[in-house]
Amino acid sequence: MAYAISHWPDTDALLAKAKRLVTEPPRPIRRDKMQEYLAYFETKCPRSKASTAAAAQFIPGGVQHNLAFNYPFPLDIARAEGAYLWDVDGNRYIDFLQAGGPTVLGSNYGPVRDKVIQVLNECGPVTGLFHDYEYKLAELINRHMPHVEMFRMLGSGTEACMAAIRAARNFTGRSKIIKVGGAYHGWSDQLVLGTRIPGSGAFEAAGIPESALQHTQEFYPNDIDGENGLHALLERNKSDGGTAAVIVEPLGPESGSRPVQRDFNARVRALCDEYSALLIFDEVVTGFRLGLGGAQGYFNIKPDLTVFGKCVAGGFPAAGGVGGRRDIMSTFAAGIGGGQQKTLVGGTLSANPISAAAGYFAILEMERTNAPVLAGQAGDKLCAGLQATIEKLGLPFFAYNHGSVLHLETHGLLFLDVSDPEFFPKLLQRRKIAEEMGAAYSAAGIITLAGSRLYTSMADTDAVIEQALGGFRRVLESVEGVG
Ligand SMILES: Cc1ncc(COP(=O)(O)O)c(C=O)c1O
Repeated sequence: MAYAISHWPDTDALLAKAKRLVTEPPRPIRRDKMQEYLAYFETKCPRSKASTAAAAQFIPGGVQHNLAFNYPFPLDIARAEGAYLWDVDGNRYIDFLQAGGPTVLGSNYGPVRDKVIQVLNECGPVTGLFHDYEYKLAELINRHMPHVEMFRMLGSGTEACMAAIRAARNFTGRSKIIKVGGAYHGWSDQLVLGTRIPGSGAFEAAGIPESALQHTQEFYPNDIDGENGLHALLERNKSDGGTAAVIVEPLGPESGSRPVQRDFNARVRALCDEYSALLIFDEVVTGFRLGLGGAQGYFNIKPDLTVFGKCVAGGFPAAGGVGGRRDIMSTFAAGIGGGQQKTLVGGTLSANPISAAAGYFAILEMERTNAPVLAGQAGDKLCAGLQATIEKLGLPFFAYNHGSVLHLETHGLLFLDVSDPEFFPKLLQRRKIAEEMGAAYSAAGIITLAGSRLYTSMADTDAVIEQALGGFRRVLESVEGVG
């Protein structure tokens, strides 16, 4: 089976570059150039400005998505097709946000859309009863990921993570969940610990009672053997009821924004076996994007449970699900008399015919077209071009990719050290740079995720990548101290 990752980046070298990036003074865009980028929004995006200002009266922050750019104001997108987005003012952008990852085939992919419309015409968006596509999707996932012996479809990745840890606790009779600091597993109460920045604990947990987090623990990315590393936590938990599960994003936190060593997952698996804790792979991003066998296929590791989102509904709504070992998954169906208490999950719109059919046909199309590998090759070309530009300009920035998941680090926001007394001022300063970078890329015709992450798709032809590299080059040339 083919995978999107052509080579594993040298993690130690990346971490050294990240350290340098956060130690050195930040390198923002030159003020005169930033004025030009901001002028783009004023002169070319008046309808976006007006509509999102009107929306701000009724929508907190003026936009419903965390991933949308708010600086200097959000863009109002009217059309999406393949590698491109168009805003309501008619400006075209290369789309490296790709909705946050689900569209490996490219945006608004016709063959899947046509199938979905057919299903919609036949039975509408929801019946609450069984539809053939539920079975077809579950069977297709199992064909590509044999460790996903059974699959329960849910409404989102957040729900699926909640379901996975609940099933793990019910099955093992233990409470403790260990996650990697910096990882994002959705926004459910129990998993908002160490979100985005490792060691940040309950920093993002406003509105969440401490008690909800009392059984969640975090360890630093790659820290298996340290004093507070995974091994030590598992050992300590042994005399405190044991560990129900360890949950990881297989590329590292935030889709590899904090990259992990190539053998990280294997070491986590071995420790889970030693302490009979379950291993949960959060494949919300990696599921089908890295290849049809997911990260578990790429790393050749058997997780006990796998969390799905995004691609599992082919970029259509209600994208989530949990799958894995038959004995654990069966608890979702257990009930009184079944010898095991049921793991309760649900959702009026979960596994509706549209989401199930969209996932099924999208995965079939990925199989037919080899989309994950093509998207990965586009990621390789984009990354090589960015690395060459960074080197040529002598910038302390760095770029790396795991196939179609690419990181362009210009500020190191997620690498800041929470124990640094200057953490907060640095956080604010670097967040501002991230915002400015994102705005500058947009003005150069490129949409990114938060100004530092890029998802490529099958639609990213060599011509698209060339054009994007030109845009990135212009922005990077306008950084302070260049030239
Ligand atoms: C690794 C990971 N897990 C879980 C989630 C949550 O998924 P959703 O946004 O569908 O709730 C995300 C979302 O970006 C994610 O990247």
